[in-house]
Amino acid sequence: MSKSLFRRKSLDTIKKEYESGQGDLDGASLKKILGVRDLTFLGIAAVIGAGIFSTIGKAAYNGGPGISLLFVIIAITCGFSALCYAEFASRVPVAGSAYTYSYVTFGELIAWIIGWALILEYAIGNIVVAISWSGYFNNLLEHVLNIHLPEWMLVDPTTAQGAFNEATKAFAEGSVLSPEKVKSYQFAIEAWNNAPILGGTHIFFNLPAFIIVCLVTWLAYIGIKESKQSANAMVIFKIIVIVFVIIAGAFFVDTNNWTPFLPNRMEGVLKGVSAVFYAYIGFDAISTTAEECKNPQRDLPKAMINALLICTGLYILIALVLTGVENYSNFQGVNDPLAFVFEKRAPWLEAVISISAVVATTSVLLVFQLGQPRIWMTMSRDGLLPKQFQKIHPKFQTPSFATIVAGILVAVPALFLQDLLVTDLTSIGTLFAFALVGGGVILLPKIAKEPGKFHLPFINGRFIIPILTSIFIYFFWNRIQSAFLNISNENYQEILFLLFILLAIIMTILTVLKEFSVIPVLAVLFCSYLMIEIPAKSWLVFFGWMGVGLTIYFLYGYRKSKLSTK
Ligand code: ALA
Repeated sequence: MSKSLFRRKSLDTIKKEYESGQGDLDGASLKKILGVRDLTFLGIAAVIGAGIFSTIGKAAYNGGPGISLLFVIIAITCGFSALCYAEFASRVPVAGSAYTYSYVTFGELIAWIIGWALILEYAIGNIVVAISWSGYFNNLLEHVLNIHLPEWMLVDPTTAQGAFNEATKAFAEGSVLSPEKVKSYQFAIEAWNNAPILGGTHIFFNLPAFIIVCLVTWLAYIGIKESKQSANAMVIFKIIVIVFVIIAGAFFVDTNNWTPFLPNRMEGVLKGVSAVFYAYIGFDAISTTAEECKNPQRDLPKAMINALLICTGLYILIALVLTGVENYSNFQGVNDPLAFVFEKRAPWLEAVISISAVVATTSVLLVFQLGQPRIWMTMSRDGLLPKQFQKIHPKFQTPSFATIVAGILVAVPALFLQDLLVTDLTSIGTLFAFALVGGGVILLPKIAKEPGKFHLPFINGRFIIPILTSIFIYFFWNRIQSAFLNISNENYQEILFLLFILLAIIMTILTVLKEFSVIPVLAVLFCSYLMIEIPAKSWLVFFGWMGVGLTIYFLYGYRKSKLSTK
């Protein structure tokens, strides 16, 4: 039993499938049109979005100017992972991304788990992006175009109910409120009073979030060329605006805001892990377009690294500008940090930022709506999902059925769900995939260098990794001691931390014994460390999600897998 659960797909099988030209059961195949520039743009399209325009407001409040350090740490982590993805992409040119990479190295069960975790990154992650898109879109309608949509069709039911209760209580108590609070409470009361009532229940939904997902799904459905052209245009626009914001923002920086650099010490900075990591997610998504690339083995690795480098540079500058223009303590509860800092200083810039946020989040939605169906298509070819998922549209040459299912899976929850937990979940799921891709690279057989293909440089970790692990343990010695002391208090976060230390020690011993390469080992360790900094309550939901995935695997994939019949 255990042997067959970990059966692997060999690189040779994948190579043969690739050379015979993958198609669906009716012989239709994807269109090969993407070059290195398109892929780099698609990567940037997927990365810069809701993270930098929305979720990092809270991270800035907790971490202060020090979050720029977090942007650097996470960029290094993503850099190690991007190099590991690049190594796989140059060896395995099919659309399944980390799912296929794990199938080759860890076998079917882990591959399924990764495929399932990637749904968190792409489909569930896109729900947050759609909700954030809706917020910025409404801002744009109200402030730039003077169009006012009814509040009840802009908000999910849980948020609406919670905000209404809070608002009525605050008004009844006559609390002193900031103008922003008064505005948000008025919104909640209007929404409640005007909402249609069905069977005694007030009806709320986030209509713009639903509509944008439908439109983006349509674009992903009608063709990769159309998607590529739209993504290119959106990326050029958002980069121009971000560079402009950095330059304009630099004039408003007050360097006093950068001291203290770590107002809440590193603890405060680390609270931002999931938000900042979320902002970086996406460069990996382009690996799902491997079958639409003209030369995936050469271009995908380059494009992933290019996209990450460009986004890292922009992000570090943006973080410094944000925390330099506005004192970190003013970011409490701010969901639109870029627009917020310019609201009073340069109101015209606020409008530009709102437009750019709408464009940026649309491009993220697009790339993730492209990525999800392609992973399902690959899983379906392996027999782990029903065969409809590999169907390719004869005219549009896109995975048609899977694209529609991905659209429904994101659009419907975006109508009703709150975005709170989802960022954490997306970040855990993606870090998990990144860590396994790093682990997979460690297990890959060594091959001779081929010209024109990317090869991850081998750096023997025998000495470097033990030195780095010792330095880490030295700096975290107090935390390790207190984690041991508190272990009986059921402090799950610290148990996760101790598990990480155990993993680091095991990986170090293995590296010394087997001379593993430094880059993939660091990819595993950095990603695992960031994972354990995400709140333990989100881990519980993550385990629940994985439990559902495993149940589906044992009920369906395990029996239907094509490899199982061999
Ligand atoms: N990195 C993507 C964003 O920030 C997910 O929207």
